[in-house]
Amino acid sequence: MPLKRFAGGVGGTWQVERIESVTGPSLPQVPRLAVLDDASVIDVGAAWVLRGVTGYQRYVQRKEQEILHAKQPQLGRPEATCAALIPIAKSIAWWQLAQDERREIFEESSHHIATGLEYLPAVARELHHGRDLGEPFDILTWFEYAPKDAPAFEELVHRLRTTPEWDYVEREVDIRLAR
Ligand code: HEM
Repeated sequence: MPLKRFAGGVGGTWQVERIESVTGPSLPQVPRLAVLDDASVIDVGAAWVLRGVTGYQRYVQRKEQEILHAKQPQLGRPEATCAALIPIAKSIAWWQLAQDERREIFEESSHHIATGLEYLPAVARELHHGRDLGEPFDILTWFEYAPKDAPAFEELVHRLRTTPEWDYVEREVDIRLAR
C-alpha cells in the first residue's frame, strides 16, 4: 500500500496559509508543507511529519463507488491551487463499534458520501490511514480545489462537522494550503 508523508517545515510545494485546531491540540505552525512518497529522502527541514497509507475502502457500497468513480476528479489539476490537509483522530468508542454500526453512522445517519458528492467534481480528495501505523491521527484527509470553489469547500466542512459522525472525532486539525 502506498505510503505518503506530509512534512510540515520550511520546504515543499505548498505554502501554509493557516493551521487551526478544530478539536484537541493543534500542530506547530510552519511556513511550508511537502507531500512525499515513500521513496523520497529529501530533507525538507520538517518540524513534524504525518504518515498514512491509501488503502482499501471501508464503507463505500457498490452503487456509491460507481457514482464516485464517475464524478471524482484526479489530484493535481492545474487550476486546483488550494489544498486542505485535515488530520483526524476518532475516539475509542468509534473503533469499538462493529463495521455495520460505523457504516450506519457514517452514511445512513450522517450522509457523508451523499453530502460529499454534491461538491464533486469541484473538490478532489484522497484518504490516508494512519491508525494501524501507530500514528497520532487515524486518518489524513487531503483535498484540492480551485480558489473559486473555496466557499463551497468551507460549506462542506461545516456541514460534515455538524453530523453524528463528528461526535466521535476527538482530534481534528485544519491545515489550509496554496501553491
Ligand atoms: C469532497 C467531498 C467528499 C467526499 C465525496 C467524501 C467521501 C468519502 C468516502 C467515500 C469515504 C469512505 C471511504 C471508505 O469507504 O473507507 C470518506 C471517508 C472519510 N472522509 Fe470524506 N468525503 C468528502 C469530504 C470530506 C471532508 C471535507 C472531510 C473532513 C472535514 C472528510 C473526512 C473523512 C474522514 C475522516 C473519512 C474516514 C472515515 C473513517 O474511516 O472513519 N471527508 N469520505
